[in-house]
Amino acid sequence: MDINSIQPQIETDLAKVVTLPALEEVRVKYLGRKGLIAELTSSIPGLAVEQRGAFGKQVNALKNTLLGLLAEKEKNLITKDNIVKKSNLDMGMPGVMQKLGHIHPITQVIDEICTIFNRMGFSIVQGPEVETEYNNFTGLNIPLEHPSRDAFDTFYLKNYSKLLLRSHTSPVQVRVMKTQKPPLAIVVPGRVYRPDAVDASHLFMFHQIEGFLVDENIRFSDLKGILGLFAQSVFGQDIKMRFRPHFFPFTEPSVEVDISCIICKGKGCSVCGRKGWLEILGAGMIHPNVFAQVGYNPKAYTGFAFGMGVERIAMLKYGINDIRLFFENDLRFLRQF
Ligand code: PHE
Repeated sequence: MDINSIQPQIETDLAKVVTLPALEEVRVKYLGRKGLIAELTSSIPGLAVEQRGAFGKQVNALKNTLLGLLAEKEKNLITKDNIVKKSNLDMGMPGVMQKLGHIHPITQVIDEICTIFNRMGFSIVQGPEVETEYNNFTGLNIPLEHPSRDAFDTFYLKNYSKLLLRSHTSPVQVRVMKTQKPPLAIVVPGRVYRPDAVDASHLFMFHQIEGFLVDENIRFSDLKGILGLFAQSVFGQDIKMRFRPHFFPFTEPSVEVDISCIICKGKGCSVCGRKGWLEILGAGMIHPNVFAQVGYNPKAYTGFAFGMGVERIAMLKYGINDIRLFFENDLRFLRQF
């Protein structure tokens, strides 16, 4: 083999190379373990002693030249233009859309409602889902013999008879009032638990938003004003409200609040059961016994409280007829919001 023929030979080979794999083939042919350079190197011991040094140097120089040629060719191949042309990459093809998740409709409604109250000056507070029996019941003036205390009506924690999954967000009233003095205005979003049989309008877990405000001289009309603003913000300016007498152990007087049916506007339809009204929340003036439990002077302060079911509000707002849809993780449903 003529050592001087190798460089012209590799130049001819490289001129034909248009892909990186082809370049690799050329590299192996010349510089591989069994390549031409290796062949020249292994011929050195067969030369006359005085020729070996000069030939060795020549082989080394040639090897460096080849490395340089290969590197230059590689650089030319790896331009953007070449990669696009020589690979199967189709720059005109639509990209693969990365799907971003989005906020669950229940969280959206919680955010919307909390924002409305926040703008009216209410602070947002959260409490634990595992509550003490005291905060969930006793502190809220729900006596031991009250039916909602029934062990079957509440999830008690096994081995911790005084701990339970809260059945409403009202225990956060007790938590806040025990640690803060009036004036205060608070909203509390969160999960609550009830051992209800699951159907189109019941789940064993759902969300509530509690609200309460305590100061000197707070009256029932303040409650009406605040709730009226809230209902109009969520359901529109034309919505009407109705307060019906009700009973809650922790408020006195207590009411249930209805809005005019958003479907039939009060005329009566299947959604409102021909009544023209839809119940949206419970409310009332905080019971003096609750103030006594948290150490407030019932003669100095008055306040109101209300509690609403978020799923119910969301169902009315979006016209959804089955509460289970929110928690089945069916993306065909969830993507609509
Ligand atoms: N805690 C009550 C319930 O879950 C709702 C409520 C809250 C009523 C505050 C009055 C005042 O049904």
